[in-house]
Amino acid sequence: MRTVTWQDGVLRLIDQRCLPFELAFVDCTTHAEVAAAIHNMTVRGAPAIGAAAAFGMALAAQQSAARNATELLADLNAAAEQLCAARPTAVNLAWAVEQQLTCAQQAGPEPNSVQTALLAKAQAIADADVAANRSIGQLGAPLIHDGATVLHHCNTGALATVDYGTALGVVRAAHEAGRRFHVLLDETRPRLQGSRLSAWELEQLGVSYEILPDAAAAYFMRRGEVDLVLVGADRIAANGDVANKIGTYSLAVLAAAHALPFYSVAPLSTVDLRCATGDDIPIEERDAAEVLAPHGQAIAPAHFRARNPAFDITPARYLAGIITEIGIARAPFTESLARFVEQAASGNTAPPQDP
Ligand code: MRU
Repeated sequence: MRTVTWQDGVLRLIDQRCLPFELAFVDCTTHAEVAAAIHNMTVRGAPAIGAAAAFGMALAAQQSAARNATELLADLNAAAEQLCAARPTAVNLAWAVEQQLTCAQQAGPEPNSVQTALLAKAQAIADADVAANRSIGQLGAPLIHDGATVLHHCNTGALATVDYGTALGVVRAAHEAGRRFHVLLDETRPRLQGSRLSAWELEQLGVSYEILPDAAAAYFMRRGEVDLVLVGADRIAANGDVANKIGTYSLAVLAAAHALPFYSVAPLSTVDLRCATGDDIPIEERDAAEVLAPHGQAIAPAHFRARNPAFDITPARYLAGIITEIGIARAPFTESLARFVEQAASGNTAPPQDP
C-alpha cells in the first residue's frame, strides 16, 4: 500500500496522524486540501510530501477554469505558491512543484494537454521515488552486518516516502537479504514519528526493534550497544550539511564521540545545490502546542512557553557518507554530491565506484 495514491481523480493519503492505532485515509480533491494535509502532517516525510504536492499540482490543473495557457499557468503558479508554503524545510516539496511547473510550460498550449501531462508527471515522480528507495536499500544494506544494532531517528520508512523508505529502506533491504540485526528507534519528540510510525512499520516487517526515549541514545552508545546510526534528510546542502528531524544533530555529535559511523540516507531529489551550506536551509518552527500537548495530551498548561523547531542542521563533517540511489557520496561532499546530481540528471544511474 502506497502512502500517496491516485484513484479516479482523487488523491488518497494514509492519515499518519491516526497511526499506529488506526489505519485511516484522507481524500483530497483540490490543491488547497493537499496543502492543508501537508501542513497538518496528514502526510509527512520529505519524499512523501513531494509526491503529494506533485498530485496537488495535477489537481490544480484539473480544477482550473482557465480558457487558455496563460490563465492556466497563472492558476498553477498560485497553486505552487500555496503548496510550497505548506512546509518550508524539505526541498522535495519545492522540487516536485518546480518539476510540475516546467512540465506545464512544456505541455501547453491546450489546457487539456497540460492536465494530462501533470497527472502523468505526478505518477512518474511517485514511481521514481519508489525505484530510488529500492536502489538506496540495495546500496545501503551491506552496511548492516549480522548481529549489528542500528540506531534510527524519526520515520524514514514507507510512510515518509511513496513506498519502501530511505534509511528504513536500508533496514528493510538488509532484513529482506536475511540479515539478523536489531534497530533502536528514537521516539522522536514531540510528534513521536519513531514510536508511532517507525515502530508500526518494523512490526509489520518483522524486524527486531525497541523504542527509546530520545535522551537514551548516549546511554546505549556508551555501553557499546550501537554499531551504526542511520537517519534520513529533508534537505542536503551542496557541502553535505544535512537538515533533518530535530535531534539529528545531537545524535551525530554523540556518534562522533563514540566513534560510530553516522549516515544520512536520501534520494538525490533531497539534495539542494542552491544551498551552499546548511545555514541557507530554512528551518520550520511549528506550533508550541505540539510540545505542550503532544497528540492533544496536555503535559503542561497551554499558556506555558515553548519552542518547537522541527529540524536541525548536522554539519557534513559528522557524516561517514550520504546513501543515495546511485551510490554512497563521501567527503568532500561538495564534489561528490555535485557529481552525483549531474550524473543522475544525465540519466546515467549506474552506481559510481564507492571509494
Ligand atoms: O516533520 P516530518 O515528520 O515530515 O520530518 C521527516 C523527517 O525528518 C525524516 O527523517 C526525513 O524527512 C526523511 S523522510 C524519508
